[in-house]
Amino acid sequence: MSAESPPLVGLDVGTTAVKGLAVGPDGTVLARAEVGYPLSTPRPGWAEQDPEDWWRASAAVLERLAADAGTPAGIGLSGQMHGLVALDTADQVLRPAILWNDQRTAAECQEIEQTVGLERLIELTGNRALPGFTAPKLVWLRHHEPDTYGRIARICLPKDYVRLRLTGEHASDVSDASGTLLLDVAARSWSEQVLDALELDASWLPRALESPDVSGLTRAGLPVESGIPVAAGGGDQAAGALGVGVDRPGPVSVALGTSGVVFAALERFAADPQGRAHSFCHAVPGAWHAMGVMLSAAGSLRWLRDTVAPDLPYDELTAAAAAWPAGTEGLVFLPYLAGERTPHADPDARGAFAGLSIRHDRGALVRAVLEGVAFGLRDSLDLLVELGVAPSLGRVSGGGARSQLWLEIIASSLELPLERLAVDEGAAFGAALLGGVAAGVWPDVRAAVAATVKPGSVVEPIPEWSTVYREAQEVYRSLYPALQGAGDR
Ligand code: XUL
Repeated sequence: MSAESPPLVGLDVGTTAVKGLAVGPDGTVLARAEVGYPLSTPRPGWAEQDPEDWWRASAAVLERLAADAGTPAGIGLSGQMHGLVALDTADQVLRPAILWNDQRTAAECQEIEQTVGLERLIELTGNRALPGFTAPKLVWLRHHEPDTYGRIARICLPKDYVRLRLTGEHASDVSDASGTLLLDVAARSWSEQVLDALELDASWLPRALESPDVSGLTRAGLPVESGIPVAAGGGDQAAGALGVGVDRPGPVSVALGTSGVVFAALERFAADPQGRAHSFCHAVPGAWHAMGVMLSAAGSLRWLRDTVAPDLPYDELTAAAAAWPAGTEGLVFLPYLAGERTPHADPDARGAFAGLSIRHDRGALVRAVLEGVAFGLRDSLDLLVELGVAPSLGRVSGGGARSQLWLEIIASSLELPLERLAVDEGAAFGAALLGGVAAGVWPDVRAAVAATVKPGSVVEPIPEWSTVYREAQEVYRSLYPALQGAGDR
């Protein structure tokens, strides 16, 4: 491919915005565009969005990227996972989409685990029922909005709604489909057994393709040219992992966005018998991944800043935290501000500061938050190690990775060197790689990663901090049971 070759475009249909990138054959980012939209929380714990907003933003982003970098050779889609879009027979959206961070379905999760049996559910899908996942949302609709439920003809995930508008195709990919709780993750196809047990209609589901497969071609009359291949794409975590070169066992990906994720690629399917880690298909055909997801990672730091120092830049906050020693003189933060997925699977979990003394100031609160998130990540890493993952390195991405102090704390807590990437562009970058494979620019996903992903600097663990954190981790773990159900009272 020559330097003048057309770009590859990746879209990430996120929770706050559609982010788009136009990428060259060597991984150079040629253009970027982002268009945001609101999140609606009509009741506590609910999170909804209008799929039309995703489409409007995607169309605007595609138009801008084409203007700045030229018509793409291929397009790849990624996006927030698990969201439920319900469509009628004319593909009209029936109600606002219910998102990954919506917590309304605790009762439906229990119902599903009772109906199918927890052990069998994990055997069939690799996962337990978590409120963020798609199947519990469908069961919730059946109970609470039977009229809407009765009109469902099709369902899709957020990025797949954008695909529908782009290509007219009902399709998904196996990495994103893994988060529905309706996929037989080991077999990489929809699970008839789960669909039958939950009395859900298999004809509602899109085709489940491998991530680099061509799902369709762009239609006429859009802000991009017609006939461009659109890759099936991937869930944002799988696509993001490609962007940091985690396409095979080796380094793990540590993503520090609103949520915090530790992600390992697996050559073979493996599931935690208790379903504490997620076991999903990877965006690499024939590969899987396991991950632990904390709901409030950088989100915890944002919450603290908004609450105690809304006008201070993050740099100043973390500089004050750096003045405190590792362990923050016994102050421990539990980051369960929005409930927690890994390892507790508890939508009612709540956060806490424990061990406050009169000496603790704002910098101490900040340091405790940075450390509490690191302990949450360590909980996830330990679960992956139980599944046989043996990492020697973490690859970091996301807004939180811009803080040197936070990376030092996390490296010391995980006892793992952390490597930055030359380009940290998140899931849109991985999506562009999938678009490139679909367009025939690279022969396969691993070749795309090898051609484009370039490592940057490494942050090493600080041995004295690791010693302190090993002990603090035990204190951290002992605190959760005391808070169980706190959000439920
Ligand atoms: C992954 C997950 C989040 C969302 C939002 O399981 O829930 O990564 O995809 O980005």
